[in-house]
Amino acid sequence: MTQPRKQLWRGARISTMVDGWGLIERGAVLTDGEQITWVGAEADLPAGLQPQAEHHLDGALLTPGFVDAHTHLVYGGDRAAEFEQRLQGASYEDIARAGGGIRSTVAATRAARADDLFASGLRRAHTLRAGGVTTLEIKSGYGLEAAAEARCLRVARRVGRETGLTVKTTCLAAHALPPEFDGQPDAYIAAVCQWLPALHAEGLVDAVDAFCERIAFSPAQTRRVFEAAQALGLPVKLHAEQLSDQGGAALAAGFGALSCDHLEWLSADGIAAMQHAGTVAMLLPGAYYFLRETRLPPVQALRAAGVPIAIATDHNPGSSPVLSMPLMLNMACTLFRLTPLEAWLGATLNGARALGLHDRGQIAIGQRADFAVWDANHPRDLAYALGNPLAQAVISGGARIAP
Ligand code: NIG
Ligand code: FE
Repeated sequence: MTQPRKQLWRGARISTMVDGWGLIERGAVLTDGEQITWVGAEADLPAGLQPQAEHHLDGALLTPGFVDAHTHLVYGGDRAAEFEQRLQGASYEDIARAGGGIRSTVAATRAARADDLFASGLRRAHTLRAGGVTTLEIKSGYGLEAAAEARCLRVARRVGRETGLTVKTTCLAAHALPPEFDGQPDAYIAAVCQWLPALHAEGLVDAVDAFCERIAFSPAQTRRVFEAAQALGLPVKLHAEQLSDQGGAALAAGFGALSCDHLEWLSADGIAAMQHAGTVAMLLPGAYYFLRETRLPPVQALRAAGVPIAIATDHNPGSSPVLSMPLMLNMACTLFRLTPLEAWLGATLNGARALGLHDRGQIAIGQRADFAVWDANHPRDLAYALGNPLAQAVISGGARIAP
């Protein structure tokens, strides 16, 4: 089925996310192929448009599609038993040090067939998509050997092809120390730096990430990974200041990082460095909630510094098994005290920035025709709804991809 080039989406209440909510009553959007070519009130539609298809939205709400810019979507197994252990008092760090945590998912991922990794990744992507996601970042980091990392990144690319979602892949080989490198973190980092060129040459890497933490890699080791990324011209991002302040955010900002993620322990110096570099602060309320953290990211200081704030699901089996961006809107507001507008900007425009994408996140001329249609009056209704609101329709590049 070939998609009509010129399409008119009319009869919608539109939230463009330009200058705030950017609400347009009885609005219309004209798309040509993958792009938005006109947005405004229906009453102002230019004459003689002759679109090849018209979609009457019956007063539904049309918003930009969500950009879920931080996920670990491809993995084997689950960590429900660990969840139970934590409820009985073990901490995330205790479990990691005892060889569980990320390592247990690495074992399950290595043991899984590629088709099974694809099938489970696809199911998760379908759930995110039903909740309005049109762009998705997927990290590796549960293979921790060259072939297994490549396999997960290929599966991630395949999820993108199969779902109509834009999938950006991030190499997070520096996520944890695999058992075969026990006691030799520097040797493992050297190996990761050696793998990057081939992964990049295969077109599997849009960005490079690391986990800079007491239970993962030091700032010096993180720096080596970033230098290897930089040598290949790849942008970097970092799991920084999640469980302790390692100075990771400032380090990443020094490399012009697209985003620093988690940030509960972010310092004033880290904020200043991120502001200077234009790095996005990626807040992950799902992980904060699920690990029952109590230290809040410094939202007010980030705001005051004008650091763009994004939010994402951080979907992963250990710290955030959530698959709903609307639920993240709610948690960003209730837990982190973002305003509904800040949460929405975080889930759209600033999420796109965290991936280095400037062609999406708003309903505006020249932007990609990525949007979601909702049974709601106002976008704040989705942040209010404590649950998993589903979109009536999800459109990517002008093509309906769900339901
Ligand atoms: O973003 N912080 C490190 N990585 C993931 C969790 C990974 C896991 O526990 O499997 C995160 O929270
Ligand atoms: Fe993460």
